[in-house]
Amino acid sequence: MENIEELKQNLVAEIMAAADVKQLEDIRIAVLGKKGRITEMMKNLGSLSVEEKKEMGKGLNILKSEVENALNVQKDRLAEQELNARLSNEKIDVTLPGRPEVQGRIHPVSQIYEEVVAIFGQMGFEVAEGPDIEDQFHNFNALNMPANHPARQMQDTFYIPNPESSDFDDSFVVRTHTSPVQIRTMEKKQPPIRIIAPGRTYRSDYDATHTPMFHQVEGLVIDKTTTMANLKGCLYDFVKAFFELDEIPVRYRPSYFPFTEPSAEMDIGCLKTKTELKIGAGNDWLEILGCGMVHPNVLRAGGIDPDEYQGFAFGVGIDRLAMLKYGIPDLRTFFESDVRWLKHYGFNPLDMASMTGGLSNNGGAAR
Ligand code: DAH
Repeated sequence: MENIEELKQNLVAEIMAAADVKQLEDIRIAVLGKKGRITEMMKNLGSLSVEEKKEMGKGLNILKSEVENALNVQKDRLAEQELNARLSNEKIDVTLPGRPEVQGRIHPVSQIYEEVVAIFGQMGFEVAEGPDIEDQFHNFNALNMPANHPARQMQDTFYIPNPESSDFDDSFVVRTHTSPVQIRTMEKKQPPIRIIAPGRTYRSDYDATHTPMFHQVEGLVIDKTTTMANLKGCLYDFVKAFFELDEIPVRYRPSYFPFTEPSAEMDIGCLKTKTELKIGAGNDWLEILGCGMVHPNVLRAGGIDPDEYQGFAFGVGIDRLAMLKYGIPDLRTFFESDVRWLKHYGFNPLDMASMTGGLSNNGGAAR
């Protein structure tokens, strides 16, 4: 027995001194493995007398369970040590200054999105959203474009089959514009309404200024006394703030959209030379957005009484705004995920667009 007690002390000391999990496992195999020391001792019990066997067997069982116990205790301890070492190794110092070479950049579309939200947010507009996959009611019919209306051909629509109906009029679309959010907003809330709806839009089109997926921001204002003068004032303030200019010439040309009456396109003054486009000066004009007074049929489709309420709406291409403001010549490059492009045209992520702190303080190739 003396022997076993001594063995136990030696083994436990050895276990507790194991420096890592691998060493501990080696000890376990050497002691309790198939040919381990205790295993062998147990195998030898057969050669002993009944009395000796009884006593030795009891002693060996206790030894085995104590050794197992020590192995578990040390295993837990080593695991904790390893975890602590890893945690202190992987610790990051959040007070360290940023490392520009590993910093990501904000995509110009996200930047313009933030700028537009900052400008209209300050004018008291809320941001509204709608689904990318729309039904034809919201994308067309409710916007005064019933089936077979010629205006539907103005937009090269991607249709999505409706698994529950083979009737073409029931098929879905990926929204061709953000205008359906006008209807979804009217369905949800009563006037006064003052929202912008930025988001993705889709049309079958591809060249230097068109991609199948692009971005628009819709605006909608409805109240009892909303007029065309409000529309003009609002959009004038918007383009001044957006292009960060104190003055900018604007003009409105009569146009046609099914969902507005009257409809207009807004141009801003610019100077076009062979190599440059300068916004805010010169004798040239640049079309910037579509707008108009909400058509009574649209108000009716949204559940609003056109005899009581009237409103204005507008739609702007976000990507187009980015191209103009930051001098990016080809829209297709926006969506190629080329890191070099993003490094060149992207924005500092720590520099949020705001009306008080500046819209586009730094970043962007234009600066
Ligand atoms: N939905 C139009 C388009 O995609 C843009 C537009 C024009 C929106 C006039 C409007 C608007 O709300 O009043 O071309």
